[in-house]
Amino acid sequence: MPAPEGILTLQTVAMPADTNSGGDIFGGWVVSQMDLAAGVTAQQRARGRCATVAIEALRFHAPVLVGDLFSVYTRIAKTGRTSITMHVEAWVRRQRTDEAFMVTEGDFTFVAIESSGVTRPLPPA
Ligand SMILES: CC(C)(COP(=O)(O)OP(=O)(O)OC[C@H]1O[C@@H](n2cnc3c(N)ncnc32)[C@H](O)[C@@H]1OP(=O)(O)O)[C@@H](O)C(=O)NCCC(=O)NCCS
Repeated sequence: MPAPEGILTLQTVAMPADTNSGGDIFGGWVVSQMDLAAGVTAQQRARGRCATVAIEALRFHAPVLVGDLFSVYTRIAKTGRTSITMHVEAWVRRQRTDEAFMVTEGDFTFVAIESSGVTRPLPPA
């Protein structure tokens, strides 16, 4: 049985307001939740403000449905001088079937920045 990789960082319920015309949840909503979760982990590691610089290897494995319990897991894969790259997985628990499975994954890179927006070195871990 596959299990999520990383730390549970964000959890919410997919609501009707977030659907597309087909009735499934918008991909943009999914990516936005993943970006929020990655931002939380990046800010903790960088001890301050960060900005998303890249989203790579994004893969939508399965649709998200209204009522799904939506969970985002983050794992720091790499850090550089100013950047933090995280592998981010979005999972759902489907209400009707009680099944849990991964719906989307991707690699999010954040850069530590000053309040002015200029990059700053990461503090020691
Ligand atoms: C984030 C930002 C301040 C970085 O400034 P920059 O001048 O591009 O910075 P640098 O070229 O010095 O790169 C900074 C780090 O980001 C990494 N980086 C830059 N572009 C990258 C990319 N496409 N993929 C992965 N890492 C990248 C660099 O490798 C570097 O990492 P390191 O210091 O750990 O070695 C600037 O690009 C920016 O403000 N972008 C907009 C951010 C934003 O608005 N995000 C929200 C999107 S709506």
